[in-house]
Amino acid sequence: MNTWRIKPLDAILATAEKKSLHRSLGAFQLTMLGIGAIIGTGIFVLTAAAAQKAGPGMMFSFIVAGIVCAVAALCYSELASMVPVSGSAYTYTYAVMGELMAWMVGWALVLEYAVAASAVCVGWSGYIMGLVKNTTGFALPELLANGPAWGMNGFVPSVDFSHGIVNLPAIVVAGLVTWLLVIGTSESAKVNALLVVIKVTALTAFIVLSLPLIKGENFTPLMPTGLFGSNGMGVIGAAASIFFAYVGFDAVSTAAEETKNPQRNVPIGLIGSLAICTVFYLLVAAGVIGTVGAQPITDAAGKFLSPDGADFAAACKAAAEGSAPIVCSREALAETLRRIDFPLIGNLVGLAASIALPSVILMMIYGQTRIFFVMARDGLLPEKLADVHPKFKTPWKMTIFTGICVAVAGAFFPVGQLADISNSGTLFAFFMVAIAVMVLRKTDPDRKRPFKTPLVWIVAPIAMVGCVGLYLNLPFIAKMVLPVWGAIGLVIYFAYSRGHSHVGRGHIEVHEDDADLPPPPATT
Ligand code: ALA
Repeated sequence: MNTWRIKPLDAILATAEKKSLHRSLGAFQLTMLGIGAIIGTGIFVLTAAAAQKAGPGMMFSFIVAGIVCAVAALCYSELASMVPVSGSAYTYTYAVMGELMAWMVGWALVLEYAVAASAVCVGWSGYIMGLVKNTTGFALPELLANGPAWGMNGFVPSVDFSHGIVNLPAIVVAGLVTWLLVIGTSESAKVNALLVVIKVTALTAFIVLSLPLIKGENFTPLMPTGLFGSNGMGVIGAAASIFFAYVGFDAVSTAAEETKNPQRNVPIGLIGSLAICTVFYLLVAAGVIGTVGAQPITDAAGKFLSPDGADFAAACKAAAEGSAPIVCSREALAETLRRIDFPLIGNLVGLAASIALPSVILMMIYGQTRIFFVMARDGLLPEKLADVHPKFKTPWKMTIFTGICVAVAGAFFPVGQLADISNSGTLFAFFMVAIAVMVLRKTDPDRKRPFKTPLVWIVAPIAMVGCVGLYLNLPFIAKMVLPVWGAIGLVIYFAYSRGHSHVGRGHIEVHEDDADLPPPPATT
């Protein structure tokens, strides 16, 4: 047995060969799947936090985050087209760097998927509350529609309940989506396409209505918080947060098994969806900045406030209702439209977000259960967790477990912090994928590569540097979560997973029972 417990690539590929999952997706559907997974809370909600961190300079933040994602996507594409099987970064790492690293990546993907799902739940909560208030006048008490604010007192986390105790709408939407997944609802390709159209129409309406009203003076000062601010502020800090807006494109690679001619279509789906979203994001950001202004707010001493802190919440509350700066908004795009005299369209954009965001939550929770499923199948997690419900044919225990975690995180953390924590896990996974692609070029140079990352010796190192650079510019709490989470993962690996691993026991099995997996979103 090899010390690193590498799962041979041939065994993984043989698994893919024996799949009974139907290959039905083409390049167009994959691109739609990508856009469906990408557009969500990031652009609809976090634009406000990015503006607080970078002011109008958030335009550059979108570009920086987009570039890091693009180089990571190029690396993903080589592996996804070569190893078109479930499990995404986890599976690639198993084949290239062995079980321990694969475990760490799988463990980090929990941060990516489950915590991202929580962030989108909180984002949805902001939109639905805004929509209800603006259409009916009813508002849930603030303390029940927001989680508490978290900060650090030196190295000790502190929590402030004065502006929020629990986010009830976030719990409701997490519960609803979990229930849909347990009873086996997979988003149909038609529903996904419809939701993509809704999201794209909402963003297009925003762009068309806001761009003609742009005022040049709103772009100065361009970078009030500088390039690198402290504790996640500044243009690069905003890029590290807004990176969240691009997360999800790797959902395309996880659908590789259901793709016709994955060698051609997966790279097109990945890069195509990313490119389209980048253009939308830049135009939307320009629309917000140019019309209502996006200058960050400061405390009395002129210090820029972090958008997650209690001081920031207090400053926003102190501003008169309806005139608080856009950086305070929990539904930045709808609010911008209301302020530029398109209240009806603003409410419709709010409605579009309220309808479409749950599909991002569904994809994220689904993606999480699928990663857990593959890890349990490899023996690294208890196989009982992967039990399939006799009636619904879904991995119900895993889904309910994931749903509870998502609801709890959504209930007690603000959206920006959840997004940042999710980013730390995602950046780690992308970093490992960039290494994997280079290692595999050396260790297995002759294997057929239907898609080759162009200039891999430049692109992959740029991806690695980009991931580390963004990670280092996350706020302190988000940065700390990754090593703490990793340490917990290591304990579990050595206490449980290492002893139960199938590869460790010498079983390199080729699974023929993948039909047990519920159908992935957007393919049925
Ligand atoms: N990119 C996804 C979003 O912004 C996760 O909601």
